[in-house]
Order: sequence, then structure tokens, then C-alpha cells
Amino acid sequence: MKGSHEFVNRDVISIRGFTREEIDYILEVSRSMESIVERGSDMLRGKIMAELFFEPSTRTRLSFQTAMYKLGGNVIGFAEPKVSSVWKGETLADTVRVVENYADIIVLRHPLEGAARFAAEYAHIPVINAGSGAEEHPTQALLDLYTILKAKGRIDGLNIILMGDLRYGRTVHSLAYALSNYDVSLHLVSPALLRMRPEVIEDIEGQIEVSEHTDLMEVLPDADVLYVTRIQKERFPDLGEYEKVKGSYVIDLEVLKKAKDDLIVMHPLPRVDEIAVEVDSTPFAKYFEQVRNGVVVRMALLALILGAVK
Ligand code: NCD
Repeated sequence: MKGSHEFVNRDVISIRGFTREEIDYILEVSRSMESIVERGSDMLRGKIMAELFFEPSTRTRLSFQTAMYKLGGNVIGFAEPKVSSVWKGETLADTVRVVENYADIIVLRHPLEGAARFAAEYAHIPVINAGSGAEEHPTQALLDLYTILKAKGRIDGLNIILMGDLRYGRTVHSLAYALSNYDVSLHLVSPALLRMRPEVIEDIEGQIEVSEHTDLMEVLPDADVLYVTRIQKERFPDLGEYEKVKGSYVIDLEVLKKAKDDLIVMHPLPRVDEIAVEVDSTPFAKYFEQVRNGVVVRMALLALILGAVK
């Protein structure tokens, strides 16, 4: 297995820190975890993962925990959603320097951009970014790629729409960077107020074809993947602005009549009202499979970083 040693003790801060070859390798190891996920393993027996969550989470925290338990490891940490908004650098630095005495790896979610990188600078153990403000969510991007690969058998050659809150949604930032390693056409659909940040577009458009739209119908008929996101209400500096854009797009069966039969609809969840519940039971819906895939991808990452996969 080529290159596995390169993952040992590695931080996962931004998906941009990984080459296509490395991402493909993580996806390959994730596939190998499919057979372990049912029966469990003791690959990480004796290892401890610390989860430091300064922001709410359901899937990310619980799937990291599940992944660790499936591999025989242990979990400590906190899921405190109510942390002071007045964050002082020392607080996080000290927390990290304390926790590294207890654990082998840290999984951190924080409302501030740059928090994961900051923590990694202090920690002597690897840090995985489980969401840093509106900036990035690299492990979500990996499970998103894994879901596309599983559903479509490939990533290259696909026509992909990222839709919704492209400004504040961290999953779409990481996913756009991740997809720029592949030969895809990327269509960004959002209200004007929630366009993808120019610096992200600049970074990726040299590598792949990117187009921006406010009207989904311009690109839906030819799409292979429709990735929908929630409007990130909690990140709006002005709730008046949120009121202007909430409910901008709703994917329902009527809208999907215009799509290819084999389109897949993805969403990092939680959903609010962007995808009608009537879509859930159709073959388009892949969002609950994403949740399941999150476990094997996180098993792969933990096993690679903690040196259990040779
Ligand atoms: C996302 C997040 O926290 O960024 N959730 C997740 O991790 N699956 C998406 C969101 O909150 O909208």
C-alpha cells in the first residue's frame, strides 16, 4: 500500500493539504473499512481520541466516535455548544496543551476560522479539523467524494452543482477544493448574496471549469450530482440579510422532473427546508448514505493517522 506511512501523525486542517493521489488513497482505505464496520476491529485498541467541540454537531462528532469505537479505540472530550463568543487565543492553546497529555489525537470543531490550524501549531499530537467557522470541513469533503465515487463509480467527467449557501457553508469550500483535483465541471448556484468567495473561485478555476448561476434550471438538466446546502443562519452578521435569502431554493419532485434520471442529490445535513421530504424515498436521495459513508471514511483517517493501516 503505497504511501501509507505519509499519513502517520499528520494533521488534517485543510483538504488543500492533500494531493489527488493521497485523497484517492484515503478513499481506497475507506472502501477496505466497509468489511470491518459491521464486525468491528481492535486496530486502535489502547488509543484515545479527544473530541473538542466548541460548536453544535450531531453527525461529525458521533461518526468520529463511532469510527473510533469500531476500531477498538476510546473517546474522551466535550460537546459543549455554549462557549463564550469572546474567544481568547490562550484559552484554546491551553486546552490543547492539556488534552494532548490524555489523548493520541484531537478532533476539533470551532466557530472561528483558523482555529484548527492554530490548535495544530500548539499540539504535539495530530489535530483533525471537524469544522472551522465558515472556512473548511475537510473530512466532510472526503466523505462527499467517497459518496460520489460509490454512487457513480468515478469522479472524473462528472457535471457537479454546488447549491445554496456557498459563502458561509464550510462543506462546499472544502468540497470545491477537493473536486478541483479531478476532471469535473463545477456549477455554483446561489443567491447573489451567498456567492462562493472570490478567493476560493480563483484558487480552483485554473484547474477545473467553474461557472456561477443564480438560476438552478440553467444547469440542472445536465447535472450528475446536485449538492445542496443549508443557509447558514448562525454565520450571518445581519439577520435582516438572512431573511432576504432564506428559502431561496427548495428541491422537490417538481424540480427534479427537469433532472437526469440518474442524478444524485447530496446534502451534508442538517437540512432545514432545502430538500422536500418527498425526495427522501427516491433513488435521487443520497444524503443518508453520506452519513453512513462518514463512518468508514473517518475510520480510514484515524487508522492511517494513528499508524494502524500499513
Ligand atoms: C455541516 C457543518 O457543520 O458544516 N454539517 C456537517 O458537519 N455535516 C453543515 C451545516 O451545518 O449546514
